Amino acid sequence: MTEDEQKQAAAAKAVDYIEEGMVIGLGTGSTAAKMVDLVGARVKAGLKITGVPTSEATANQARNLGIPVVGLDEVEEIDLTIDGTDEVDPEGRLIKGGGGAHLREKIVASLSKKMIVIAEAKKRVAKLGAFKLPVEVIRFAAPALKSRLDALGCTAALRLTKDGTPFVTDEGNYIYDCDFKVIKDPEGIALTLSTLPGVVEHGLFIGYPDIVIIGTDSGVDVTEY
Ligand code: 5RP
Repeated sequence: MTEDEQKQAAAAKAVDYIEEGMVIGLGTGSTAAKMVDLVGARVKAGLKITGVPTSEATANQARNLGIPVVGLDEVEEIDLTIDGTDEVDPEGRLIKGGGGAHLREKIVASLSKKMIVIAEAKKRVAKLGAFKLPVEVIRFAAPALKSRLDALGCTAALRLTKDGTPFVTDEGNYIYDCDFKVIKDPEGIALTLSTLPGVVEHGLFIGYPDIVIIGTDSGVDVTEY
């Protein structure tokens, strides 16, 4: 299977977990977009669900497909969130935020009874860190934070758009992409990042997925945590 087909297969398997009446957290990224398309098709066929999007891009996609979307002012709890990932290790720890949406993604995941992560095979890694860890920071703090992030053992680079200006998240913040090569102690780095003033959220998701569905050459691998 091509990578695109692997993403599609993982998305299709995840959508099987959706039941009538559920509140569904809708992830962000190319794999999540395939899932949202599939949810849209089921809604068109009569399924009644409510979506909580994790980004403006996903909200627009969902609305265009006729999926009812609400914010956190309208729901207390989310039944199931389905989202992609940039890396997943054997313990189900994730690096997310390649699409710059990890702040809202983590909030939505944290409010969810269940999280399913979907990805193509190459996202499965023995150790996290080859993918640069996204760290969302408030703009005021950004100049001061580069050296503080580098001191954690990485090289932090401000994420830029194609025209060379800083990438701005849906919440109006900047992102540092932190190149650790290998993150030897994900829990320790996660804790340290959470205590740095000016850091809004980092892309380490530890203890979040209940199920990881990986599309492979031969089908889908489903791992429960
Ligand atoms: C966005 C994310 C995405 O889930 C992650 O980047 C994976 O994206 P894709 O499915 O396009 O590879 O965390 O913030």
